[in-house]
Amino acid sequence: MRITVLGTGVVGRTLAAGFERNGHLVTLGTRDPAGTSHRDDFSEWAGQHGAIPLATYADAAADAEVVVNATNGAASVSTIEGVGAEKLAGKVLVDVSNPLDFSQGFPPTLSVKDTDSLGEQIQRAVPTARVVKAFNTVNAAVMVDPRLVGDGDTTVFVAGDDEAAKETVRGLMTEFGWSDIVDMGGIGAARGLEMWIALWVRLMGTFGTPMFNLKLVR
Ligand SMILES: NC(=O)c1ccc[n+]([C@@H]2O[C@H](COP(=O)([O-])OP(=O)(O)OC[C@H]3O[C@@H](n4cnc5c(N)ncnc54)[C@H](OP(=O)(O)O)[C@@H]3O)[C@@H](O)[C@H]2O)c1
Repeated sequence: MRITVLGTGVVGRTLAAGFERNGHLVTLGTRDPAGTSHRDDFSEWAGQHGAIPLATYADAAADAEVVVNATNGAASVSTIEGVGAEKLAGKVLVDVSNPLDFSQGFPPTLSVKDTDSLGEQIQRAVPTARVVKAFNTVNAAVMVDPRLVGDGDTTVFVAGDDEAAKETVRGLMTEFGWSDIVDMGGIGAARGLEMWIALWVRLMGTFGTPMFNLKLVR
């Protein structure tokens, strides 16, 4: 598939490399392609993944079948609005973002919760895109390799209003090795998936590592 990942942070780079490894045609979107290509962390990574092109967010999204939002949560809605409803119409839009607010230090608070979520805000911003909340509940490295924690059989989630879009995302997760993928229903369930992060950051503080995940036992 033609997959565009928006954002060149650790999540964007990790997912982009993972999708490429699984045989997809990947493009990375960034605010400033020239500036990003000279950024130390990015140029080191690009040395190993030179085949993945870099473009502005809007240009990168134009030809994609699947667009992944891996931008900072505070910037996600404006980034998606900037790409525009026209370029995202009908596309699967995988939202990996979390609404973390570090302005008061650690642990962060959630900038939206309880009555709304970033996933829903993004779906409202681009109503014709098919938004699926996914991957946001685990660390970047674990997203693309579930075998990094436990026996590799922990749980991830999808939430979204479009069944076919969720199937597409399930397929991408399965390629990474995920087997326990729980469908949470509509995009409103993004509230729960994002609020899990309040517990996740505290567990990270307790364990001293982000390499863990939850496993649902029925
Ligand atoms: N880190 C994890 O393991 C993890 C796990 C689960 C979910 N998440 C979520 O996934 C998303 C990406 O996380 P991340 O850790 O890769 O990095 P991040 O620090 O949250 O930022 C990701 C990227 O957002 C882009 N961005 C666009 N507008 C921005 C602005 N105004 N200010 C700052 N950045 C802006 C930047 O990419 P460009 O410079 O290329 O434009 C930046 O590299 C976040 O929403 C995060 O909460 C992270």
